[in-house]
Amino acid sequence: MCGIVGYVGSRPALDVILDGLRRLEYRGYDSAGVAVLDGAGGLAVERKAGPLANLETRLAEVGTTQFNGTTGMGHTRWATHGGPTDRNAHPHRDNAGKVAVVHNGIIENFIALRAGLEADGVELTSDTDTEATAHLVARAYDEGPTAGDLAASVRAVSRRLEGAFTLLFTHADRPGEIVAARRSSPLVVGLGDGETFLGSDVAAFIEHTRDAVELGQDQVVTITADGYTVTDFAGEPVEVKPFRVTWDLAAAEKGGHDYFMLKEIEEQPTAIADTLRGHLIDRRIVLDEQRLADADLRDVDKVFVVACGTAYHSGLLAKYAIEHWTRLPVEVELASEFRYRDPVLDRQTLVVAISQSGETMDTLEAVRHAKEQKARVLAICNTNGAQIPRESDAVLYTHAGPEIGVAATKTFTSQIAATYLVGLALAQARGTKYPDEVAREFAELEAMPAAVASALEAVDATRELAYDLALSRAVLFLGRHVGYPVALEGALKLKELAYMHAEAFAAGELKHGPIALIEQGLPVVVVMPSPKGRAVLHAKLLSNIQEITARGARTVVIAEEGDETIRPFAHHLLEVPAVPTLLQPLVSTVPLQVLAAEIARARGYDVDKPRNLAKSVTVE
Ligand code: F6R
Repeated sequence: MCGIVGYVGSRPALDVILDGLRRLEYRGYDSAGVAVLDGAGGLAVERKAGPLANLETRLAEVGTTQFNGTTGMGHTRWATHGGPTDRNAHPHRDNAGKVAVVHNGIIENFIALRAGLEADGVELTSDTDTEATAHLVARAYDEGPTAGDLAASVRAVSRRLEGAFTLLFTHADRPGEIVAARRSSPLVVGLGDGETFLGSDVAAFIEHTRDAVELGQDQVVTITADGYTVTDFAGEPVEVKPFRVTWDLAAAEKGGHDYFMLKEIEEQPTAIADTLRGHLIDRRIVLDEQRLADADLRDVDKVFVVACGTAYHSGLLAKYAIEHWTRLPVEVELASEFRYRDPVLDRQTLVVAISQSGETMDTLEAVRHAKEQKARVLAICNTNGAQIPRESDAVLYTHAGPEIGVAATKTFTSQIAATYLVGLALAQARGTKYPDEVAREFAELEAMPAAVASALEAVDATRELAYDLALSRAVLFLGRHVGYPVALEGALKLKELAYMHAEAFAAGELKHGPIALIEQGLPVVVVMPSPKGRAVLHAKLLSNIQEITARGARTVVIAEEGDETIRPFAHHLLEVPAVPTLLQPLVSTVPLQVLAAEIARARGYDVDKPRNLAKSVTVE
């Protein structure tokens, strides 16, 4: 949700910033903007509504001679306050044009701040919550106890702000310096040789350096070409721990694919294998970080899974595995609803928070609520050191690598693998599974990358079908047992990418209402259970298929290889390898991902950047 890049060094800042913005555009593409200090008191700013390409066209039109400096910053926006227009695009400036700011997050007390500024005669030129901070910092820099000190000015203003923010400030009189403040929004510092970077995530500077530092809550960092200093909002120095990014530039490039999402779909076997790697030692499951005693895990008597969107669907799947393996009751909750309904939580409750980005505000607030109620929190996250894992008692990382396509794909299947590891960790802690049973389940998980690779072989057949379905008005999805969350995920992918009405039902519910939707030619995607593993459910779904076919539905059936009984009833059959029942979602999800992406492409949409969305949702 909004991408931010900052650079101080010796290279032309504009080039570095535009490269960084290209890599961060998945975070928001409502507008983009840049600010560069020329070192002689000049501050050049350009900003444009729409995707980054619009800004680049604009820069080509107006020329870039005034952007001739080696300090600068850039922004790619997902609009919250103020529509996606030129005037609301970042960077924002104070009236004297000395201070520039870019922002990710929401400043909740912006109405009062704007009113105060207007009462003092300041002319506000945008509808945003952000602009006020440029005026406030300019004023703090000009007068009073913080005069002439940009970091002190930023700290003073930050103390007045409510909400979530990453803010980067430059001052025309201070070339060679950027000051940034962070609360509940992500910010990382990249450490180069004679150059320093800021980014919403490491993708912003991965091309230049893999050495980075993650800022903590309520901290202010000043970067110069020679390094960085960090303090808290009161100005006390703070120690921060550098880390090395484990993936490289190639992982953030399309690698010959037409779009990131297809590359990421194809990376699923590796992502799952990397997520599992190293987590079984001496027939015991080990987590990445555990700030809990083993006894705390043993004493858990209830599990809540909290997450949003696709991560929530992986949580729905976790319920089947965790309940089956541990006999613990598991409730799966939308993170956005969780804390508003006063859930019953105590020390023996384990809350599993699943988040690819680790910065989703709804999930973060659910974590905070759980901790206030003394529950233990275990995070499953794809982003090292993000806020959700930092605030949790235990962490299991999915090692899916960077996911640039806005729609979650490889992180979904990695999340499924990770939640199953959590299920096994709980089963071993509670003694509901012997070590050799844990090892056996783990071995089955380890066989999944190969099964997913074989599911990927059907990509071309799925693509053809996609072109066939692209003109449909709506698509329904049906599933049962673990096939139901898969159906939900298939429908979500189609909605977000192809902008089609798509809805999923537990097939048993059909007769309770949804069957009325079936009409001549309506495509219905059915996720079939295994005829061997779930024979009873298989038979019931077969009947459901006949019921809907009789009413004119056109069926697209995802079924296990060798399931001959289904053939006469499927208008289109997409086969996936036979795997154990609980693991079937890992293979049956693949054709649904491809279908959604290819239908979107056939309809002429940008698969990686669906409208109105952003990769991480850092507002509630
Ligand atoms: C859908 C999608 C979203 C995210 C959701 C949670 O393709 O990507 O539904 O799954 O916004 O995001 P994280 O996992 O970052 O908390």
